[in-house]
Amino acid sequence: MSDFIIIKKKLKNFKKKIYVNSDKSLSIRAILLASQAVGVSKIYNLLESEDVINAIKALKKLGIKIIKKKNFFEIYGKGLNGYSPKKKETIYAGNSGTFGRLILSALIKTNANVKITGDKSLSKRDFYRIIEPLRKFGANIKSKNNCLPINIEGSKFLRPIKYIEKLGSAQCKSAVMIAALNTPGITKIKAKKSRNHTELFFKFLKIPILVKKKKFFDEIHVAGLKQFKNFEYNIPGDISSASFFIALTILSENSQLLIKNVNLNVTRLGIINILKMMNAKIYIKNKTQYKGETIGDILVKSSKNLKAINCPIKFNTSAIDEFLIIFLVASKAKGVSIFKNLEELKKKESNRLLLGSKILKLIGVKNKIEKGDNIRIWGNQNLELEGSYSIKDYMKDHRIMAMATISALTLGGNWKIYDKNSINTSFPDFIKILKNIGAKFVE
Ligand code: S3P
Repeated sequence: MSDFIIIKKKLKNFKKKIYVNSDKSLSIRAILLASQAVGVSKIYNLLESEDVINAIKALKKLGIKIIKKKNFFEIYGKGLNGYSPKKKETIYAGNSGTFGRLILSALIKTNANVKITGDKSLSKRDFYRIIEPLRKFGANIKSKNNCLPINIEGSKFLRPIKYIEKLGSAQCKSAVMIAALNTPGITKIKAKKSRNHTELFFKFLKIPILVKKKKFFDEIHVAGLKQFKNFEYNIPGDISSASFFIALTILSENSQLLIKNVNLNVTRLGIINILKMMNAKIYIKNKTQYKGETIGDILVKSSKNLKAINCPIKFNTSAIDEFLIIFLVASKAKGVSIFKNLEELKKKESNRLLLGSKILKLIGVKNKIEKGDNIRIWGNQNLELEGSYSIKDYMKDHRIMAMATISALTLGGNWKIYDKNSINTSFPDFIKILKNIGAKFVE
């Protein structure tokens, strides 16, 4: 099968209701926590993407029984520090920074020697950000250059730590929280605000946790060594996946989309806040609460009068996975937009600041990276494409693939997008849903 798609036609005039695939952050947290719970958990609507499938395979190697039933996964949790890998074991985290970092901390007390590996993209990403706090707990970690592959041999002498998280990284915060579960005493974290799924999950599981919300930071205390029971969880849709359909609709003529059952946790709503500032027609419907998370539907309409923004940096962490698609919308907004302090965007599955800028340049959108981590984008409300565009060599970054596809479907031109299957990392039904709305592809 070819690993590229060809797109030659824009999409317009659609009015549909869709469901996007389930949330990746919640799927990974659900199986990881289920593997450490006591008893059999049931996870409904688990995202069956490559990141999550790799995580399941890794947990199986650590001795966790996982069975796929008709509409849920059964996870046979063995309690805290219950993993039983072979004396020497290797697990593969694939493309997933979240799983790679969280499983390393879940292994802080293992009595085996576990090597964690990843794909080409993940093997280039910085793990020092979690190695450093894990070593303070007493973890026994070996790595050549603070990247994967990493070896961990559990330590018997763990102590709780005080940790200040300054990057706004939910992965760092969550890694420390998970290490705290396996450590006696109270671990104290002061973390720059970032997605709070782990905190909400801990509360739902009645793990002893205290969260004090301050203006810029949250203070989080976790008491360790308290076993928690098996649970049921139904994963809602992923707003990061929905973001591509939000942009598609905003930028398409005479169109409307209702995206059902999406996770609308406020710590993930940067995309909606930013696009609304640009005049996008986005409406939230049917909001409900589910085990601490907010869930609802997103109604989006074609939005002609988009305007440029000076994006407030307070939205950066809550939109961190959505900036590529936001840059595309900014390209069709009137005026010059500026996005600042995007250092973390350079540290994702690819350097998304650089590659986002490159793709915009390829399609003739003037933009400039300034001071290393700002980007200025000169928008054009009449942007239409006629040329041929080839998207290749982008570290197989799933969100680049999706951004390029939405560019092709909204701006026109002849597009060849390589590494089509990279989208399976997070959003396996991406192409199928687009076809449902009316998109035509040559595959
Ligand atoms: C994630 C946190 C974010 C995000 C990633 C998923 C998570 O990364 O970019 O896709 O599930 O905690 P950082 O925490 O490193 O910013």
